[in-house]
Amino acid sequence: MTTTLTAAQAVPVPHPPHRIPLIGDVIGMSLSTPVQSVMRQAADLGPIFTRRVMKVRITVVSGADLIADLVDETRFAKHLPPAVAQLRSIAGDGLFTAFNDEPNWRLAHDLLRPAFTQQAMRGYHRIMLDVADQLTDRWDSGEAFDVAADMTKVTLETIGRTGFSYSFGSFGSGTQHPFVDAMVQALRHSLRTVFRPPVIGDLLLRRADQRQAVNVRTVFELVEDVIATRMASGGQGPDDLLGLMLRGSDQAAALDPVNVRNQIVTFLVAGHETTSGALSFALYYLSRHPDVLARAQAEVDSVWGPDGEPPFEQVAKLRYLRRVLDESLRLWPTVPAFAREAREDTLIGGRYPMREGDWALVLIPGLHRDPAWGADRDRFDPDRFEPERVKARPGHIYKPFGTGERACIGRQFAIHEAVLVLGTLLRRYDLVGDPRYDLQVSERLTLMPAGFMLTPRRRTQPRTATASPN
Ligand code: HEM
Repeated sequence: MTTTLTAAQAVPVPHPPHRIPLIGDVIGMSLSTPVQSVMRQAADLGPIFTRRVMKVRITVVSGADLIADLVDETRFAKHLPPAVAQLRSIAGDGLFTAFNDEPNWRLAHDLLRPAFTQQAMRGYHRIMLDVADQLTDRWDSGEAFDVAADMTKVTLETIGRTGFSYSFGSFGSGTQHPFVDAMVQALRHSLRTVFRPPVIGDLLLRRADQRQAVNVRTVFELVEDVIATRMASGGQGPDDLLGLMLRGSDQAAALDPVNVRNQIVTFLVAGHETTSGALSFALYYLSRHPDVLARAQAEVDSVWGPDGEPPFEQVAKLRYLRRVLDESLRLWPTVPAFAREAREDTLIGGRYPMREGDWALVLIPGLHRDPAWGADRDRFDPDRFEPERVKARPGHIYKPFGTGERACIGRQFAIHEAVLVLGTLLRRYDLVGDPRYDLQVSERLTLMPAGFMLTPRRRTQPRTATASPN
């Protein structure tokens, strides 16, 4: 393909109008909600723009036709943008933060991939049911609950127990496990240092850097302790992800202990806030759309029946509920961006040149609101995910789990867990949200509805289908 343009053909990439010398494009940028400020800028500046803050220059792309090029694996690969590269101080060469050419990425990918297939979810189903039971024990009291906090308990507990047979005791005492505080603070600090000014930053952030060292040590110590205990058991121990990583499989070699630690931290980080955000947004939309809630409840009632534990196969049969999840992830993809770097000199959209090594950020909430989704693209409508409508759309306009070889390894895990938890809650409760609540989206590493409370009310009547669930 043509990779050069004449001066007349070249299209300049826009940038925000008020650029401050040295500092750059900080007007309109929010430190607490950076993704939402970039979404507003994308709405003003169009499908591609650049933003420079001090020496960091970022090209943000949200237009579907341009992203069609960026997801072409022959010309582009994953890039670690500054915010993800910072996470290497705690997740090292774990799957999410590994560079494409690091040998440990291939080793871990080949070993762990079979443990994340749809069929492999059968092995985690029991634990997911148990954790969902702990949640309903709590919700049966009928109090108002902070949804994001409770969904985070569910997902952290599930990944801890399936990953390395460790319970954080999330549903026990009122206080959070110290590991969770340390991990959240360590992540927050890493992200804050993206725009750290040189020299003066070291002076200003000395105390925060010291706290960071303590937090990272707390995270490492717990994980290393779990690994050492398992190694001391001489290969005996549960058949979980940790066991697989230490033993290897017939097809792939075992991982070294430092890499195992990095993978466990990665699963904890990548595998819990992401899914808890997705669950929380889905519950928010269900509580705001009584017609959708009634239809989803009717589906659960008819597929799962009134009581008893749903067997593994019955989870994927909640097809309408799955569409509710897909549509929630369309409007609020909880991992809001991924970055792509050019493998060679090339063009995107046939008009924007990229040199080998140049990179761009795919703004997923922007892509998911591209005009290709239709005039009602801001409306919550799970029927967009009916199979015929999905088939009629180009695949690259929906990317909540990233793309290509480095796409999310935990996708099936997240979907099975989220549908199982939503089904469990809908079969048991009506969801009463506060009608005065306006959606506030908070941003850490992921997006999450903030301050959203739900009061679960035990259901007394089964729903007869108000509309066909399929
Ligand atoms: C709704 C929930 C989830 C969402 C929206 C999500 C989203 C994503 C996205 C967008 C990426 C690609 C990032 C990039 O290209 O830089 C990714 C990668 C990854 N995710 Fe997820 N994720 C979710 C759940 C999970 C779970 C449950 C796990 C683990 C149990 C997990 C583990 C990972 C790992 C290890 C990678 C890196 C894969 C690699 O590069 O080889 N994720 N995820």
